[in-house]
Amino acid sequence: MKTERNDIPNVSLFPPLEPDIRRSLESILALIDQVFPIPRRFRAGLPKDIAELSRLLTSNQGDRNESYLSKPSFLSGYLRYFLPWNLYRLCRLLPPLSLNVESGGTITDLGSGPLTFPLALWISRPDLRKLPLEFRCIDRTGSVLDAGKKLFYAFAGGDAPWRIKTIRGSLENAVKGTKADLVSAVNVFNELFRGIPHADQRSLTDLAGKQARILSKLTAESGSILVVEPGVPQSGEIITALRGDLLLYGYAPELPCPHKGLCPFPGGGKTKWCHFAFDTRQAPPALLKLSAAAGLPKERATLSFLLARTIPEYPKKNAFPIRIVSDIFPISSKKFRYGRYGCSGLGIILVTGPQKTLGKHESGGVFMYTPTGQEQRDPKSGALTVVI
Ligand SMILES: C[S@@+](CC[C@H](N)C(=O)[O-])C[C@H]1O[C@@H](n2cnc3c(N)ncnc32)[C@H](O)[C@@H]1O
Repeated sequence: MKTERNDIPNVSLFPPLEPDIRRSLESILALIDQVFPIPRRFRAGLPKDIAELSRLLTSNQGDRNESYLSKPSFLSGYLRYFLPWNLYRLCRLLPPLSLNVESGGTITDLGSGPLTFPLALWISRPDLRKLPLEFRCIDRTGSVLDAGKKLFYAFAGGDAPWRIKTIRGSLENAVKGTKADLVSAVNVFNELFRGIPHADQRSLTDLAGKQARILSKLTAESGSILVVEPGVPQSGEIITALRGDLLLYGYAPELPCPHKGLCPFPGGGKTKWCHFAFDTRQAPPALLKLSAAAGLPKERATLSFLLARTIPEYPKKNAFPIRIVSDIFPISSKKFRYGRYGCSGLGIILVTGPQKTLGKHESGGVFMYTPTGQEQRDPKSGALTVVI
């Protein structure tokens, strides 16, 4: 659905699957078996492999090898369980979204795995199938990208007008890449916060800051960013933190937020975290059966997501006004000993700097601040900290 850029889109999320999307999700399961056959003697072990992979993907112990998907039994389990469930979730999400993709457009997909996002887009967005598009799919594991490319063309046909470039590499190095009209990161940030204790919000928000920088560097000036994560508390928290950090780079939340103000559901044990749940009645019956066999029955699917796009009214360098709203008070930062609170479109700001500079502003005074990209959050108040 097209929306005016300044409007809050009036979009109903997660509509039921159209019959042809449902059929495609069912047929892709058979195609996966055909393109990646499992020798008969390993078939019986599939539910166990899936259960083990699930334990590995959801444990917080960091006991996972970086390229776990290059292990054949895990790749097979991912292709038969995680890929179809992620496709189901995405196919419920993507149809009503305005994605800023036109003929000749480019899409960078971070942590692409078996090309789940391009596949979901092909299945759920027939309006895009005829457009020549270029996808740059980045992942640190080459074998999973190769499997995804094989599956994509087996499904979409060799004459599909989408050009898929797979790039083996890390997200952190992706910033050198060309800017895209749409940058997606689906089910990948949860791999990065694995190992961060639930109570350590500082590390989580630092991670969000780093990822927001990468996302904004990869996105064209008029582009969009789509982040989708499993609907678990830390994912919701990182999405809310990303939402705030992306504002700094000039990207405003478009969905699911019906406003651009502070997120009322930041999670972190204090409030609900932002996530959505929907039923799995329309999921392929073979997938539901396999999930039950693996001891992972699924009645509901959940996700957290954020679609953000350039704020046209922001100046190019994204300078924004901050109004001083408090006196000077002592803070516990190592570098500066004093701060003041400011109010901004990005929420509460902790303004720090030399005491003399802080004192130059009247209470109620306003100044323009240009983000450096190095801003952090104050662990105590959660306020974005800027240095003047
Ligand atoms: C859970 S899978 C998600 C794959 C796919 N996006 C999906 O939704 O099914 C996470 C993927 O991110 C990749 N990944 C994790 N950290 C990465 C990093 N730092 N750089 C590049 N790829 C990374 C992994 O190799 C894996 O393929």
